[in-house]
Amino acid sequence: MSIRPIHPSRLPDLLRAMPKAELHMHIEGSLEPEQMFAMAQRNRIALSYPSAQAVREAYVFDNLQSFLDIYHAGTLVLKTEQDFYDMACAYLARAQADKVVHTELFFDTQTHTGHGIEASVVINGLHRACMDAPAKYGMTASLILCFLRHLSELEAFECLEQAMPWRDKLVGIGLASSELGHPPEKFAKVFARARQLGFRLVAHAGEEGPPDYIWSALDVLKVERIDHGVQAIKDARLMQRLVHDRIPLTVCPLSNLKLRVFPSLRQHTLGRMLDAGIVATINSDDPAYFGGYINENFTQTFAALGLDAQQAHTLASNSFNASFIDGSARARHIDRLNEVFETFE
Ligand code: HPA
Ligand code: ZN
Repeated sequence: MSIRPIHPSRLPDLLRAMPKAELHMHIEGSLEPEQMFAMAQRNRIALSYPSAQAVREAYVFDNLQSFLDIYHAGTLVLKTEQDFYDMACAYLARAQADKVVHTELFFDTQTHTGHGIEASVVINGLHRACMDAPAKYGMTASLILCFLRHLSELEAFECLEQAMPWRDKLVGIGLASSELGHPPEKFAKVFARARQLGFRLVAHAGEEGPPDYIWSALDVLKVERIDHGVQAIKDARLMQRLVHDRIPLTVCPLSNLKLRVFPSLRQHTLGRMLDAGIVATINSDDPAYFGGYINENFTQTFAALGLDAQQAHTLASNSFNASFIDGSARARHIDRLNEVFETFE
């Protein structure tokens, strides 16, 4: 669709008003410090910080690993099915306010089973929130179970096995956690098994890791989407492949800023990727830790890179095209998106 130009001063309102899908958000990374304190209290867990403000002040990271260490500590407050349900509902309410109409939530069970919580507690709590999403938040939500790549492939197989009784509650399988030193091919067999079982497949690749990890996520794991993928810009042949095969990248600009993948948002390569024809989307990754939900990612990135209304429309329609919703829901969302652009004053 050709988009009429919109004055830059009106762009933030358009970005906030347009319907969108969020496809890269770790639900544990949406746990705000206040909620962390409330859960710690109800579960009688001592936190090593005196206040929610002190927790926030600790959120300064050098790289992915320094974030993952703090993020892991935050997950210790989650104990009951209700905790997982409440955490997901808090995110869905914020997403609705940001005009998210569909989301695919990342979660993992290995962090929690490592703390003695049953996988069923995690999956049932999150799934109940997804089931309530249409009536409570006017949106659809589904779940993607991520394996933790710093653990072994054998442990990923155990994780998949444990989740099987609830397989109908999951749309896909992903790969998250410490990237460097844990290339996708480490999980070749378990992804092949997940594929056989009919799961949709995604993987984090090329966040900190080299373009080679994106190649192997595509060619060895056979994923349909790449999470992050920003390092692809270093490999012209890979860029051509991503464009040619229309492989979506779920880009998370504020995450990249906070984890120092780019020194500033002005140096983010999202604009260049869109210019090259990459099917990129904007997402929040771990919004409680990285300074903003999806609309904050949109508005700050557009301001820093000078992106325009045409690119806003492309990013929102990419989010629906990259999602795992069915064709009729996709068409409905894109019609509504076009309507918002046509009627925006
Ligand atoms: N990368 C890898 N693993 C993660 C991330 C991320 O950005 N967020 C939560 N787990
Ligand atoms: Zn992520």
